Amino acid sequence: MQPQRAPISRDELPQDLLARHAADILRSPGMDVERRCIQHGDTTVFQHSVAVTLRCVAIAQALAVPVSERDLVRGALLHDYFLYDWHVPDPSHRLHGFRHPFFARMNAERDFGLTPIQRDMVVHHMFPLVPAPPHCREAWILTLADKCVASHETAHGFALKASRLAGWVGNKVGLAGGGDRA
Ligand SMILES: [Fe+2]
Ligand SMILES: [Fe+2]
Repeated sequence: MQPQRAPISRDELPQDLLARHAADILRSPGMDVERRCIQHGDTTVFQHSVAVTLRCVAIAQALAVPVSERDLVRGALLHDYFLYDWHVPDPSHRLHGFRHPFFARMNAERDFGLTPIQRDMVVHHMFPLVPAPPHCREAWILTLADKCVASHETAHGFALKASRLAGWVGNKVGLAGGGDRA
């Protein structure tokens, strides 16, 4: 059966669509795991997934292309549903960048079930790092939104580290200066 697609009205707030289509996912124990796991910088996987979902809706609204609204929201929210902290050294976390879409698919199928569009979104969101391109427009929108949001989070993480380092150096210099004067 062909999915029902229509442009998303620009009058809709992305966060309202998130609540309408994915309240069950937002309340799930899996999202509690995502709230405890870091994705980029100091951003949790949960914050990242919500930000990517809202960006997907905003891109679809800006392009005014027909999309399956519910699939777009649910597939985006579940795209990083791998349920572990990939910063923790563990053999099972090796090659995280390449393997996590398949872990996310497996977990999401088990906990919520996936439509063909949602499955395409989750499995192919790491294109072109994983060189298998998406097949549907919702998945293309997700690959774009994910990269925009991830770049911003990573840059913010670097800026945070740099400012902490600058503060640490400033304190050291300040202490050294005090010592010289004494
Ligand atoms: Fe990902
Ligand atoms: Fe992501």
